[in-house]
Amino acid sequence: MAGPFADTPGTPDVVPGAPPSDVPPTGARRQPLVSGNWKMHHDHIEALHTVRDLGLRIKPDDVAAVDVSIHPPFTDLRTVQTLVEAESIPVALGAQHCNDHDRGAFTGEVSPQMLARLGVRYVIVGHSERRQHFGMTDDAVAATLRAVLRHGMTPILCVGETQEERAAGSTETRLAAQLHAALAGLDAAQVAGIVVAYEPIWAIGSGTPASAVDAEDACLFVRQTVATLAGGDAAASLRVQYGGSVNAENAAELAAEPDVDGLLVGGASLDAAGFLEIVRATRPPARRRRA
Ligand code: PGA
Repeated sequence: MAGPFADTPGTPDVVPGAPPSDVPPTGARRQPLVSGNWKMHHDHIEALHTVRDLGLRIKPDDVAAVDVSIHPPFTDLRTVQTLVEAESIPVALGAQHCNDHDRGAFTGEVSPQMLARLGVRYVIVGHSERRQHFGMTDDAVAATLRAVLRHGMTPILCVGETQEERAAGSTETRLAAQLHAALAGLDAAQVAGIVVAYEPIWAIGSGTPASAVDAEDACLFVRQTVATLAGGDAAASLRVQYGGSVNAENAAELAAEPDVDGLLVGGASLDAAGFLEIVRATRPPARRRRA
């Protein structure tokens, strides 16, 4: 669990509709998390090569101040788990989605219990592609998030606005609605340990990331909204990633923002060398190697 606040969550402070006045401290004590979301890329043989390549390149210093997770397709998970454990590669195993039931007649689905048994630590929940292409509703997102927590894994809850919502000035309304739907009713300790990924939909796979200033504004808004739902201590502990067209060139600028606690990387995570450059760019400045 990240941050010095993690073990001392505050009293739940749920004030529906209250303005985000309980602004928690921002700061450098949350350990950034860089997550590689492979989406539907890399079969298990390609996964083996990519993770072996990553393992050969990654140095202890790369992960001394940054957590790293990789989220391959389901069919790769066992292969990647075996390799990561056998070769002590310092990355956490992640999944891209799961069902909210532990077992049952849900053809084609994967249970959170199965993921936990494989040693999965992080599960992406409510990615915009799940919402858009597979009809994942806010209710399903909330249920999935709870299922992930129930099995001791960390959800990476994705929120973000469309281009139209941004143009209409309703980015914050959209983010607040998604956060309320997913997090209302959780206790402060649960909220403190989760990860929220701010992923503007227009930035995903488009080659046009949010500016660092816009990413910071949105991530701060996420934190302020979480403060109204679960209290300032939980909001100060929660990690907020930025995602959407992150690459080795823009990662350092985005990750340097005080409320951006790491990056959720799609396309640029498929290549081990490129992904590692992003991990290195995310290290807090004091830990970056001198050029
Ligand atoms: P991208 O995807 O980095 O390829 O834009 C990010 C994501 O969808 O998580």
